[in-house]
Amino acid sequence: MEYENGKKRKVRNRQQQQQQTKPEFFSLRYLTICLCCFFVLLFFLSTNRISVRSASLRPSLRVPALSVSSMERSFHGRLIPPLRVEDRVQFSDHLLLILSSRIEKGVNKEDLVCVYHGGREEEETSMLPSISSDELDEFRSIVRCPNAPLNYSSSVDVQFRGDLVKKVVDEKVHDWSKVVYEAVVDEDGDTVVVFVKGLTRRPHKESDPSNYKCRFETTSLEVFVTQALAAAQEVVRCVLPESLKLINQETFRVSVIRVDPRGGGRSTTPALPSVARVYGSEKKSGVMKVKHELCVCTMLWNQAHFLREWILYHSWLGVERWFIYDNNSDDDVEEEIRLLNSENYNVSRHVWPWIKTQEAGFSHCAVRAKDECNWVGFFDVDEFYYFPTHRSQGLPSKNALSSLVSNYTSWGLVGEIRTECHNYGPSGLTSVPSQGVTVGYTCRQANTERHKSIIRPELLTSSLLNEVHHFQMREGVGHVSLVESVAVVNHYKYQVWETFKAKFERRVATYVVDWRENQNQGSKDRAPGLGTEAVEPVDWRRRFCEVWDTGLKDLVLSSFADQVTGYLPWQRQQQD
Ligand SMILES: *[C@@H]1O[C@H](CO)[C@@H](O)[C@H](O)[C@H]1NC(C)=O
Ligand SMILES: *[C@@H]1O[C@H](CO)[C@@H](O)[C@H](O)[C@H]1NC(C)=O
Ligand SMILES: *[C@@H]1O[C@H](CO)[C@@H](O)[C@H](O)[C@H]1NC(C)=O
Ligand SMILES: *[C@@H]1O[C@H](CO)[C@@H](O)[C@H](O)[C@H]1NC(C)=O
Repeated sequence: MEYENGKKRKVRNRQQQQQQTKPEFFSLRYLTICLCCFFVLLFFLSTNRISVRSASLRPSLRVPALSVSSMERSFHGRLIPPLRVEDRVQFSDHLLLILSSRIEKGVNKEDLVCVYHGGREEEETSMLPSISSDELDEFRSIVRCPNAPLNYSSSVDVQFRGDLVKKVVDEKVHDWSKVVYEAVVDEDGDTVVVFVKGLTRRPHKESDPSNYKCRFETTSLEVFVTQALAAAQEVVRCVLPESLKLINQETFRVSVIRVDPRGGGRSTTPALPSVARVYGSEKKSGVMKVKHELCVCTMLWNQAHFLREWILYHSWLGVERWFIYDNNSDDDVEEEIRLLNSENYNVSRHVWPWIKTQEAGFSHCAVRAKDECNWVGFFDVDEFYYFPTHRSQGLPSKNALSSLVSNYTSWGLVGEIRTECHNYGPSGLTSVPSQGVTVGYTCRQANTERHKSIIRPELLTSSLLNEVHHFQMREGVGHVSLVESVAVVNHYKYQVWETFKAKFERRVATYVVDWRENQNQGSKDRAPGLGTEAVEPVDWRRRFCEVWDTGLKDLVLSSFADQVTGYLPWQRQQQD
């Protein structure tokens, strides 16, 4: 993970501050606090006013509710800051808690418990293990909690397992149907792009920006309101307040205000509830950064296993920088990314906990990438670019993709490069191919389906209007479509049943309506003929196979396989 210079410095400063205060803290304040706690504890025990019930962790827990949240606590011998819940968002199947600090690496979800207040007697406490935890941005982290049990408040708290139960809080819980959830500063435009749930608008159309304003509030409750410049779908783009460019280390909560057009632009509704933040930073001095020619944005969930082959292969084609939007993966994706970075691939992971917001995630990534990249590809980890003519004519494929896009960089009229996809089937396999997907799957459907886009973020409309993988470009900016013989995307869409089943369930949870409900049966997201049951069809391994095509397999074997052992650099050597 890496940050821009200013922000990195900030993080380090905070850590230094903490380290400096630790020794003093230990010796004096720690003793005092302990003594205080002891007496308070005695008092509560003697009055025995509050009973505490534990749902599953500690069956016969009877501890009075005390406020211990102000105490630092040690974890594996290190002092770490208290867990302070800043915001709560209610999703249909879980509660998302946003914490005001980063959770120390090494703290597992097992170490954290969710605490609910209420119950039959309104003063009871119930605890459940947390579902997961992760970082959210440079300063904040998230913890997912199960929904509150019946009669308990959703204003849930989180604490370390085994700690004394915290004092009752009852703060507002935001509903996912109406909340400002992300904001990102567009560096060179002096604007901020805000992502909002609950602006009821026509899909895939731009809205009148004069209907919106943005509201920025500092931690000291100073407020700045600025005008919206563009709006579409879940996105509102506003002018960046001047102060945000000046005040380093300040946190701004960002919200959106709807302006009633009938009131002559004067009458406004209260700002929408918000969990979005931007962080003030001094404007970087005018050093012109050299941009990467080609970067990639992708969103994944539990696909760590496929990442290495995909990144090694496309880096060879010329991709220089990777933005991975991780939606709650609980596989070893962090370790996989750490390893790739240690080998000098430039990969960053961005946590994206927002449900069914793939388009917003892509817009968010486009804004971040704009500053660093001339071109950005949006494609999934089971999609691989391939240049059939390069191969047949004996031209080198190394850097073929980056030199292809750089052909259009100086032109300024092409904002998007489209490439058709070939869908591959299980190709007769019954188990996950150890040499990777490019070598394993070699039988595909004859016709192409859909296309993938590599775009020029500078030439996007300012509303960032997009439909899954499809951005709208500025007026006068066009696209080119590559012919199938020049470039094609091998989409390993229908892999062995084990993989496909996981993908199918993931896609459901991630983007589309529940496929087990008989809706939308003609959708391209479905496997033709599969119906609505996740039961392996007897002939699965032979399906989707019309043309045997070993083009990419041959290229990969001749370019990547070890001369002596035949191993591919992504092959897990312990397997078969
Ligand atoms: C919830 O509260 C209602 C009314 O206060 C009570 O009748 C009901 O038994 C409670 N249910 C549970 C599961 O505690
Ligand atoms: C990764 O890319 C960023 C900017 O896009 C750059 O500042 C950084 O130095 C790169 N890191 C490596 C390891 O190449
Ligand atoms: C770049 O454009 C030139 C001229 O159109 C073409 O000959 C060349 O093959 C292109 N390069 C790539 C990598 O497509
Ligand atoms: C993220 O994953 C969760 C399941 O953990 C799913 O419900 C959600 O829709 C996914 N969201 C996105 C944007 O992928």
